[in-house]
Amino acid sequence: MRIDRSKLSLDQPVSSLDPTRETHEEAAEWLRHGPVVPVSLPDDVRAWAAMSAEAARTVLDAHPDLSSDPRHWAAYTRGEIPTGWPLLNLILGESMLNADGADHRRLRRLVSHAFTPRRIDALAPRIREVTGELLDGLEAGGPEAVTDLKKTFAYPLPLLIICELFGLTDPDQQHRLRGHFRTMLSVEVSNAERQAAAAGQREVLAHLVADRRAAPLGDLTSALIEALDDEDGRLTEKELIDTLEIILLAGHETTVNSLTSTVLGLLTRPDQLTALLDGELEWPAAVEAGLHWNSPLRNLFMRYALRDTVLQGVTVRRGEPIVIGLAAANREQHGTVPARFDIRDSRHYERQLAFGAGPHYCLGAALARLESAIALSQLFTRFPAMRLAVPESELVPVVSTAINGLAALPVVLGRPHR
Ligand code: HEM
Repeated sequence: MRIDRSKLSLDQPVSSLDPTRETHEEAAEWLRHGPVVPVSLPDDVRAWAAMSAEAARTVLDAHPDLSSDPRHWAAYTRGEIPTGWPLLNLILGESMLNADGADHRRLRRLVSHAFTPRRIDALAPRIREVTGELLDGLEAGGPEAVTDLKKTFAYPLPLLIICELFGLTDPDQQHRLRGHFRTMLSVEVSNAERQAAAAGQREVLAHLVADRRAAPLGDLTSALIEALDDEDGRLTEKELIDTLEIILLAGHETTVNSLTSTVLGLLTRPDQLTALLDGELEWPAAVEAGLHWNSPLRNLFMRYALRDTVLQGVTVRRGEPIVIGLAAANREQHGTVPARFDIRDSRHYERQLAFGAGPHYCLGAALARLESAIALSQLFTRFPAMRLAVPESELVPVVSTAINGLAALPVVLGRPHR
């Protein structure tokens, strides 16, 4: 079927984004219509989807006609997007993620000093410690117990590390944060529940800011409060909370799913796992292979056209939004290669798109890489005989428009190695 791309328009979406559908199966269907296709999001909100690697790079790479600021989304400014629309939490907020140009640089600079290689490396001992504690908890269940590794290991670790960065040390507040966060990202709750969870999360963060204002420590929250009080008035109160929220949003679920997918990759490639444990392959390479095989972000929401723009043969009209199909784009660039987890062939992941590209390139990439390499090496060194508790074909994908991963990863840990 030959498609005339110039005739594609948001009035006639080629498909609907279906959170229950397997990510790569859906992507393959969309890509048959071209690299940039009109689709329908929840509640029949319309958007373009950039699905090929080239289209994704073009959109991400500081394109002069595209913006990250939702105030340029015509349907939103016309009030056509329902309150509590499931993706609004991902899209709104006065954070760097939604800012362009000088504003983006100002917001990013304030946080980036918490993410310098030196600061990230300094977190390594604490990451090792937290990982070790989680593994002790798992070991206590016995070698033949079945555990959902996503829930018991991959989920708590990144949140604990982000709490560490923020200086949020109270276990009750951490617990509340985790509950609200989970509800906010769920597609199985009502819009009202999602809004209540968003309010609850802001409450926890506002509480943290009040605590740090009274007693500053050497954490990110204290550093941001200092920026708030800076003589240039560089950060507003709302931007402060929005920045903490965006770090949580950007850094948690992504790392959880990266870890879960890579563990699955290794459990299904025992030859490569043995090579890692024998030191023939490096753990950071396993992290890259996992990110390429299954980008934790299925789709990135969104960019907005500042003026009519031609992208890969389609015309995106001023004010129309574009979703970036990261998981599809990451695999599409090696279209002829079978999609499989393979640490040995680094061509697959040299031009990794899982962390995005251009000015918004993931600020936490180094942290995510370090954390994942430590977590995977400690996990498999402690439990080298770990195996899937169900056949791979019975694993269920997570139901999400934004996230690509597994709903659960049931494993038998096997006898620990000490
Ligand atoms: C495997 C884990 C991760 C993946 C796959 C990932 C992916 C991404 C992607 C694709 C973007 C670009 C967004 C855009 O262009 O609109 C991004 C931005 C960002 N990420 Fe990550 N991320 C991960 C982990 C983290 C962590 C651990 C943190 C911090 C704790 C973090 C903080 C951020 C921030 C602050 C931004 C916004 C940067 C900006 O707008 O300039 N991420 N991430």
